[in-house]
Amino acid sequence: MIPSTITGTNTGTTRVAVVTGANKGIGFAIARQLAELGMTVHLGARDEERGRAAEAELCAAGLDVRFVHLDVTDEATVALAAKQVEEVSGRLDVLVNNAGTSSPWKPPSQTSTDEVRSALETNVLGVVTVTNAMLPLLRRSEAGRIVNLSSTFGSLTAAAENRDPGNFFPPGAFPVILDYPASKAALNAVTLMYANELRESGILVNAVCPGYVATDRSHGHGALTPEQGALVPVRLATLRDGGPTGTFTGSDGTPNGLPLPW
Ligand SMILES: NC(=O)c1ccc[n+]([C@@H]2O[C@H](COP(=O)([O-])OP(=O)(O)OC[C@H]3O[C@@H](n4cnc5c(N)ncnc54)[C@H](OP(=O)(O)O)[C@@H]3O)[C@@H](O)[C@H]2O)c1
Repeated sequence: MIPSTITGTNTGTTRVAVVTGANKGIGFAIARQLAELGMTVHLGARDEERGRAAEAELCAAGLDVRFVHLDVTDEATVALAAKQVEEVSGRLDVLVNNAGTSSPWKPPSQTSTDEVRSALETNVLGVVTVTNAMLPLLRRSEAGRIVNLSSTFGSLTAAAENRDPGNFFPPGAFPVILDYPASKAALNAVTLMYANELRESGILVNAVCPGYVATDRSHGHGALTPEQGALVPVRLATLRDGGPTGTFTGSDGTPNGLPLPW
């Protein structure tokens, strides 16, 4: 069950959300859950066919979901997406930076520079591009919220201690891979910097690991369903005014999740 933690200040108006990479996986589940809470959801997808199919599925369930073409690595599509959201909705209340990528797991010494660059472009620079494009619209909100989909793999504390705070990997067996953890560690830094810049504005910015979720990215393996993985991101997207900002939370299948070390 989704927690009813919708912010109070905008009560009576339809809240507006953008979710990137929302045509499948955790992003699709987040889009669905936000729309089920009554929001207008702009469903971001880089591929029009996949995006329209996801939009059709959620609209068929009676939800207010609108496809928006958005490749987070393509500044032109991001700018057009922001324009579309402005034309349709006039402002933005919730931005969920969900789109993410990684190469197959391999040790750092066998990872190419191009693989690292690709992870950084989508998982870090893409978030910066989208956030900066959407911020003028978020500043028009009475209760802006930004949620960044990070990972326990981005926890420098976990890497330094060789310990998985999510307990999916046994102590001493924290995965030794390069591109994805480096990108999510950078995303955590990005999250904190936006949180600090926006602290006085009331826009809350938080990072979340959705847990080990069965999606295409995890090749169908995972302890949680996408719906379970979406719970904490949705809670952070619907925090009350004055709620936490600059936090890192992990999913354990419950809406509250657990605090993660940076
Ligand atoms: N699954 C897990 O266990 C897990 C754990 C920790 C963190 N996460 C994070 O959770 C987020 C969602 O993961 P997921 O498991 O749902 O992955 P997924 O099933 O592979 O879905 C990823 C989504 O991101 C989109 N995407 C990739 N590159 C994009 C780009 N340049 N522009 C726009 N969209 C792009 C994909 O679009 P296409 O369909 O076009 O490829 C897809 O919609 C990611 O940030 C991931 O790092 C996942």
